[in-house]
Amino acid sequence: MNKDLPVLEDLLPLEGKSVLMRTDFNVPIVDGRITDDMRMRLPMETITWLLDQGAARITTASHLGRPKGKPDPRYSMAPVRAHLSELVRAAGADPAKVELLENLRFDPREEAGEFSFAEELVEGHDVFVNDAFGAAHRAHASVVGPPQLLPCAAGRVMAREVEVLGGLLSGAKRPFVAVLGGSKVSDKLGVIEALLEKVDTLVVGGGMCFTFLAAKGHSVGASLLEADHVESCRKLLDAGLDIRLPSDLTVLSPGAKFGAGVERSGETRQVGVEVPEGWMGLDIGPGSAAEFSDVIGEAATVLWNGPMGVFEDPRFVAGTRTVAEAVADARGFTVVGGGDSAAALAQFGLAERVDHLSTGGGASLEFLEHGDLPGVAALRSGPLA
Ligand code: 3PG
Ligand code: MG
Repeated sequence: MNKDLPVLEDLLPLEGKSVLMRTDFNVPIVDGRITDDMRMRLPMETITWLLDQGAARITTASHLGRPKGKPDPRYSMAPVRAHLSELVRAAGADPAKVELLENLRFDPREEAGEFSFAEELVEGHDVFVNDAFGAAHRAHASVVGPPQLLPCAAGRVMAREVEVLGGLLSGAKRPFVAVLGGSKVSDKLGVIEALLEKVDTLVVGGGMCFTFLAAKGHSVGASLLEADHVESCRKLLDAGLDIRLPSDLTVLSPGAKFGAGVERSGETRQVGVEVPEGWMGLDIGPGSAAEFSDVIGEAATVLWNGPMGVFEDPRFVAGTRTVAEAVADARGFTVVGGGDSAAALAQFGLAERVDHLSTGGGASLEFLEHGDLPGVAALRSGPLA
């Protein structure tokens, strides 16, 4: 039988203690500037609580981007470190007490999950706090090793994520509607299967809808299609569940360019669910967006993960914007998975209008799929708690 997830209070007394804290400070940085610091602001609650309890110092440790196991100045923690000091000071705490190590992934032992790396990290520390929910799906050294070596606990961010996402699996208020988008159906099949038993309605948009539309026999033109997964989608559609697919689409003319950072070209058109030869579906159409909004508005619980179209390109933003607004306006309890949907909400200025915005992209999906994550399980099974 698994123990409960240990929380910060389980670490008391903390007077004079030195804390090792795994954080997910993997924030987007453009030209040396942090463009979204949510992953840094949220764990400040944990940091200030630890200091208020008398912790002598906190060593925060995070990865940033995907350097290949060796130092790479493009992934230096310097901008993150500077911003962390500002946040600690703004919270009325002493920045001298909060250190940030260099990018954990500069050491190949981190991603390899080597215990020797965890042993080095914990040196000189009395307790371990993991507030890096966004990295909890990685069985990396700094995630799973320290709970074996020090008394450990989930920080406030981690504990809240586990409570909210776990709550969706164990007792969401009905009707429960999941809205899934994003490009690849292959990334989402596991979570779809896990959620189908729990949700009343599954709404599918984004690039992944084309594999479902193909499974229903529609022509998808040059849209994204994962031919290997058509059969899985057909089985899901045949299982008698309430799965809502788009009824109209916004498509782009053959060979045209789209997205962010390119010279956009071509002609767009509204069609039903038959995409003309060579054309590419890049957003759900206005009719589908309105239908999806109605479903979201009637739900008691809404989970949204993945954009409805290529929202980085203004020609294909409408579907995602309409769905985001519906989620923001929903009367039900709303949970939004991190990653692209979080970025979309931030772009529309709606991030504050949902009940729970997850700090994890892949982590939130994997948690919903498996009901647990390596980093969470490691905290529960810490032998020293
Ligand atoms: C994320 O941004 O998804 C987390 O920080 C984990 O990063 P990773 O996907 O590079 O492991
Ligand atoms: Mg990821």
